[in-house]
Amino acid sequence: MNVSVNHLSFSYPDGTRALHKLTCQLTKNKVAILGSNGSGKSTLLQHLNGLYIPQSGTVEINGTRITKKNCMDIRKKVGLVFDHPDHQIFAPTVFDDIAFGPRNKGESEKDVARLVYEMMDWLNISHLQNKPPYHLSLGQKKKVAIAGVLAMEPEIILFDEPFSGLDPYSLDDFIEILNRLANLGQMVIITTHDVDLAYSWAEECLILQRGKALLQGDVHILENEKVMAEAKLRLPSLFSLFKETKYRPTNIQQAKTLLEQIVRKEPLMK
Ligand SMILES: Nc1ncnc2c1ncn2[C@@H]1O[C@H](COP(=O)(O)OP(=O)(O)OP(=O)(O)O)[C@@H](O)[C@H]1O
Ligand SMILES: [Mg+2]
Repeated sequence: MNVSVNHLSFSYPDGTRALHKLTCQLTKNKVAILGSNGSGKSTLLQHLNGLYIPQSGTVEINGTRITKKNCMDIRKKVGLVFDHPDHQIFAPTVFDDIAFGPRNKGESEKDVARLVYEMMDWLNISHLQNKPPYHLSLGQKKKVAIAGVLAMEPEIILFDEPFSGLDPYSLDDFIEILNRLANLGQMVIITTHDVDLAYSWAEECLILQRGKALLQGDVHILENEKVMAEAKLRLPSLFSLFKETKYRPTNIQQAKTLLEQIVRKEPLMK
């Protein structure tokens, strides 16, 4: 899977310049896009699934350049889960909402039901299937929106700030779902302000600032103090903690193992 963006620029009708000559190549299955408010993350995602067509520059998905002509086909291959679930749930029941995509694709009712039940099971929302989506809590609505996009079986899935509004257990469940999708070979691209989460989860990171790609690479780019300050992002907590040592654990489990080894070598004074 390959997403290639070259010199992409985009301004909204009121003249706000949201993207400015943005260039990046994304190839890994777990990608995190980081940047402060207004840096262009959501605008970029909407270009990656053909909702917006580049005003200048190009966006290519697996070598196919997105144009006005093919953008509907691209949307079937690249699913987007918006940051606000109200933007994408509208059917009378949760079941119908999740079924909307596969029905639109012309799947048989039997296949639609199979997919919808599978997605509801993944997201632990089977008990909500007959409820009107507008009666749900924010986190529940988010899960319905996610299930709806997954039911379309896209090759690339874009999640705009998927973790906001989820309780800690739902967050863990959700990270597991993202990992499952990535392990199945789907490319998962998220935007997030959660630097710690990106540090522990992503295989590839992209830092945006004022519509430009400031830096791209593996999670260790998040340790670049100058770039992170420029992008108005906090350093990862684990990096701050281990900065003065030679160790670079990127997740809690690695940090725990390291600390156990260190304490075993030099037992702490009682
Ligand atoms: N519909 C719109 N009309 C005019 N300007 C817009 C519109 N949507 C976004 N913008 C502007 O485009 C710029 C980029 O916005 P975008 O939503 O892409 O940022 P973001 O990185 O997703 O921010 P956040 O972290 O707050 O979600 C901002 O300056 C924003 O004010
Ligand atoms: Mg946004």
